[in-house]
Amino acid sequence: MSLLITTPHTSKYENWREAFAQIAPDLKVVCGAEQASEEVTYVLTWHPPKGLFQSLPNLRAVFSMGAGVDHITSDPSLPNVPLIRQRDAGMGTQMSEYALYAALHYQRDFDIVRLNQQSQTWAPFVSGVRPRLNIGILGLGTLGSVVANALVQNGFPVSGWSRSKKEVDGVTSYSGEGELGDFLAQTELLLCLLPDTEQTRGMVNQNLLQQLPKGAVLVNVARGALVNDDELLQAIDSGHLRGAMLDVFHIEPLPTEHRFWSHPNIVVTPHVAAETVYAASAQQVSLEIQRMEAGLPPTEVVDPSRGY
Ligand code: NAP
Ligand code: GLV
Repeated sequence: MSLLITTPHTSKYENWREAFAQIAPDLKVVCGAEQASEEVTYVLTWHPPKGLFQSLPNLRAVFSMGAGVDHITSDPSLPNVPLIRQRDAGMGTQMSEYALYAALHYQRDFDIVRLNQQSQTWAPFVSGVRPRLNIGILGLGTLGSVVANALVQNGFPVSGWSRSKKEVDGVTSYSGEGELGDFLAQTELLLCLLPDTEQTRGMVNQNLLQQLPKGAVLVNVARGALVNDDELLQAIDSGHLRGAMLDVFHIEPLPTEHRFWSHPNIVVTPHVAAETVYAASAQQVSLEIQRMEAGLPPTEVVDPSRGY
């Protein structure tokens, strides 16, 4: 039995080895796709290289290195074994920091300050104490709930939309297609934290954006595939949306010619909103392996029919 770790960020292998050595010293860990063999029973991966799964005939489970699993489910050769995702793994705190940064950026009009700097305009204006922006979280799951709590604690009115109703202190929960319109109509900053699935891909389009009030902002920390880029640009250029802060893109790295890079009302960050923390992840992965080796089902299994 052994765990194979693969990621395009090969400089991180040492951190992974150290984390597992601390937390599960008896688990044999090998790094890099070239270590694939019949001995490997578990794989922990980020963007698995083509053909990886065919070279692992004895897999018992696949672990995503992240909360999202789209980078794995897109591989048609994914074997029929449990696919397990990271549950928070240190990302909730980082995601909350990103969300607070975005919320305060627009709450305090720092988007305007940034534009003024570009034209060397010294225009001291005072935003005054205004009601906090209404934040709407699209995807009130593991990370969405942590982020919602952090925003509520900082005085923001927060609502969330998910497939099923949620109970999160201080957060208004909307669910299902039938309540999406009401959710959007009162959202001034839309924070996207949905997984990339057949149902969600492309859903942040003209139709959805037009249901936000004029002057609203989009913050996407989920996946680029959820957003129709041209329709987002149109919504901003027409003045319907105030702007966007985007961490994730259809193609990463974001191609140099993409209009997002130079658009004055768009902030681009390079998929850094939240990174899996090695120790927290190693803890989860080793506990799931222990469960499976004891004949118990793993806990954070992706439902193939939902795609998350
Ligand atoms: P999660 O726990 O699976 O939560 C997903 C949420 O989306 C759930 O509330 C779910 O509703 C809702 N949802 C899914 N499909 C839906 C649909 N068709 N209609 C309505 N609601 C739907 O996932 P998570 O751990 O919070 O992570 C969310 C995503 O964040 C990941 O998939 C990943 O893409 C992204 N992410 C990005 C970064 C970054 O650095 N930018 C870092 C980590 C994660 P139910 O609860 O009712 O099922
Ligand atoms: C990061 O994007 C993740 O899915 O964890």
